[in-house]
Amino acid sequence: MSDKMHVKLNVNGEDHEFLAEPRELLIYALREKLNLTGPHVGCDTSHCGACTVTVDGKSVKSCTMFVAQANGAEITTIEGIGNPGALHVLQESFREHHGLQCGFCTPGMIIRATKLLEENPTPTEEEVRFGMAGNICRCTGYQNIVKSILAAASELNASKEAAE
Ligand code: FES
Ligand code: FES
Repeated sequence: MSDKMHVKLNVNGEDHEFLAEPRELLIYALREKLNLTGPHVGCDTSHCGACTVTVDGKSVKSCTMFVAQANGAEITTIEGIGNPGALHVLQESFREHHGLQCGFCTPGMIIRATKLLEENPTPTEEEVRFGMAGNICRCTGYQNIVKSILAAASELNASKEAAE
């Protein structure tokens, strides 16, 4: 008898069902079963944040969660927030303010930043640095990442005000 587990996930608005080994990590199910290769594996030890996704409204390093623990969850990956023809405000801001170099950390950075700005739409620079502390970048020195997030916050707030 198979000891695989039946897992259901809603990822970026689409339902998925599959069998998974009990020890299978969420990051590998996303990348290898669902072909969502935006979340990256930088360390596999919960240090870098490259694998960050949103699980039921919380930022989660998907290398730290078994896919079975996510059973029934709603998950958002970088693929779920924008596309090349219609970038999310944060994606556009990272592009405009040079918030990336190699781009390896960027999917995790941006997905984490979406939650940060939902939780705190008007963060100070210090709050951005604190809120992003679980995401590591080897290239940029962080200045432009912080600048990109602050600029995206201003833009989101300006469009909210314009809509009111
Ligand atoms: S791969 Fe998950 S934190 Fe680095
Ligand atoms: S842009 Fe290269 S690791 Fe962040």
